[in-house]
Amino acid sequence: MADITLISGSTLGGAEYVAEHLAEKLEEAGFSTDVQHGPLLEDLTASGIWLLVSSTHGAGDIPENLLPLYEALQEQKPDLSAVRFGSVGIGSREYDTFCGAIDKIDAELLACGAKQVGETLKINVLEHDIPEDPAEIWLGSWKNLL
Ligand SMILES: Cc1cc2nc3c(=O)[nH]c(=O)nc-3n(C[C@H](O)[C@H](O)[C@H](O)COP(=O)(O)O)c2cc1C
Repeated sequence: MADITLISGSTLGGAEYVAEHLAEKLEEAGFSTDVQHGPLLEDLTASGIWLLVSSTHGAGDIPENLLPLYEALQEQKPDLSAVRFGSVGIGSREYDTFCGAIDKIDAELLACGAKQVGETLKINVLEHDIPEDPAEIWLGSWKNLL
C-alpha cells in the first residue's frame, strides 16, 4: 500500500494536475504515492493517509467523477476510523459556493470517522493562475504533520 493515496475530483482537469503535482512533491520527499482520479469506494483501502484534491462545479457541487465515491460515503457510511486525510479545494470566489465541494467531502469523511490532518486549503483560481503553487506551499507544512 502506498504511504499516501491522492484522490482527485475534477471536471476540466485542473484538480487532476494539482494532485499529480503534489504526488510528485511527496515522492521527492520520500513518500510513496498512489494517485486516483475519481475512484470508487471499492478502489480505496480504508486505512492510511488520503489526500483529497477537488474542484467545485455547478453551484457548490461535487465534480461528476467524484460523485459515486461521495454518494457511497453518504449511503454506506464505511468505517474510516483508520484513515487520516488532508484536503485541498479548488474553486472561484466569484461563486457564493466557493469550494463547496471540498467542504461536503470533508464533512462526509469526518462523519465516517476519518481524522483530518491540518486545515483544508482553499485555492481561489481568480487569485492563482497556477494552483499548483499555493498547493505546494501548503503541502510543505502538511507533510510535517503526518
Ligand atoms: C460551470 C461552472 C461552475 C462552477 N461552480 C463553482 C462553485 O460553485 N464554486 C466554486 O468555488 N467554483 C466553481 N467553479 C470554478 C471551478 O471550480 C474552477 O474553475 C476550477 O479551477 C475547475 O477545476 P477543474 O479543472 O478541476 O474542474 C465553477 C466553474 C464552472 C465552469
